Amino acid sequence: MGTVSVDVTPISPVLGGIVRGVDLSKPIDENTASALRDAWHRHGVLFFRDQVMTDDQQLAAATVFGSPEEFRFSPPVRDDLPLVHIIHEEGARRGAGVAIWHSDATWMEKPPIGTMLRAIRLPSDGGDTCFSHAGAAYDEMSAPLRALAGRLTAVHEGGPHLARSAGMVGVEMPERPISHPVVRTHTATGRRCLFVNRLFTSRINELAEEEGRAVLGLFCDQLRAPDFQIRWKWRLGDVVLWDNRCLQHYAVQDYGSPRTMHRVTLAGEPVS
Ligand code: SIN
Repeated sequence: MGTVSVDVTPISPVLGGIVRGVDLSKPIDENTASALRDAWHRHGVLFFRDQVMTDDQQLAAATVFGSPEEFRFSPPVRDDLPLVHIIHEEGARRGAGVAIWHSDATWMEKPPIGTMLRAIRLPSDGGDTCFSHAGAAYDEMSAPLRALAGRLTAVHEGGPHLARSAGMVGVEMPERPISHPVVRTHTATGRRCLFVNRLFTSRINELAEEEGRAVLGLFCDQLRAPDFQIRWKWRLGDVVLWDNRCLQHYAVQDYGSPRTMHRVTLAGEPVS
């Protein structure tokens, strides 16, 4: 297989790359697909501007990076296209779950490895999405804290925000909480990343409740440093693909008119 390079401009030395010269509406040959996957693993989140595509083409583009799977907690764009979902808000919702740093669906036994969003309708201003690198956040912790984190597991559950979505779509909540290691190893890069978040992680298994709350807060706060973050200002035609294994995201709730995204979720793998 010949080597192909794709044009990627980093957004920061830590995370984020803007890809140019790739039309995601067209079939992607295997050499380009491989280069795109490498870029995704290097930058954690890829941004494609000015994409003109259908929902079926978005689904095809997502398969370059993984296996799309149904996400029961948001409605499909069409009944015959159950793997592409609508994320819609009429305006910002203070207290919305998405405005808490998280990676997607960590309450699943195999949380999705990636998520692709395509901007369909945007508010005139605001509605940005922020990303933080959980590998960089882990690396910056002191050695004793990293050692402690590496010995712990944590409980993840859907909580009230997922219950709201479940109610709107009319599906059952997941039956049982799931435990994952507090630090996971990225299966493609081998990088160690913090894997707890304030949206879905409820407690640390090995610690007393008070201790666990304090330690969990410490780990979650680690991702709040601007040093590990970027902020994406959406334009129509943007397609963004992030890696849930090594990043967390936060959807800013500051807008006053409708915002619609079409989303594809990439099937997960066991966390270890
Ligand atoms: C999410 O948290 O999955 C939604 C991100 C966004 O709408 O920007």
